[in-house]
Amino acid sequence: MLKIVHYPDPLLRRRSDEVESFDEDLARFLSEMARAMYKYDGIGLAAPQVGVNKRIIVVDVGKGLLKLINPVILEVGGKEEEMEEGCLSLPGVYVPVRRKVGYIKFKALDVSGKEKVWQGEGLLARVIQHEIDHLDGKLIIDRASGPMKEDSLKALKRLEEEYGLLSQQG
Ligand code: NI
Repeated sequence: MLKIVHYPDPLLRRRSDEVESFDEDLARFLSEMARAMYKYDGIGLAAPQVGVNKRIIVVDVGKGLLKLINPVILEVGGKEEEMEEGCLSLPGVYVPVRRKVGYIKFKALDVSGKEKVWQGEGLLARVIQHEIDHLDGKLIIDRASGPMKEDSLKALKRLEEEYGLLSQQG
């Protein structure tokens, strides 16, 4: 099982590279990512969250699994909504994030390297933006549109302390 990389690991802050080769390893990696996302009850997972700085995400908002390679947002708009977002890399941390969720149109390659275009709205629009943020080294704490609750601030601090201890152990 793939392990989830937690904040503040610097891997989460890098801009990920585009995928250029479409082979067996890529297909296997995508299946492993999907397995990890389901196991940890996520609705989206980006490759840097499992330690791989490649532009790959998996998403399932309850309408089936999407495996997206080199995803690009073509259009996003409509109504803006604030919602508390969580992230598998920031366990226990919930951040109010305002995003446009009226509609989204995005393109990506599939495991065979073929380009497809998708359209959606609501939660799918939100999750796609959240996961693509990961590929650009951005996290929900960078997108806060309001104050975080006390519990979330504590969880954030705990993650920072845990990472500090891990680094000292080498
Ligand atoms: Ni996330």
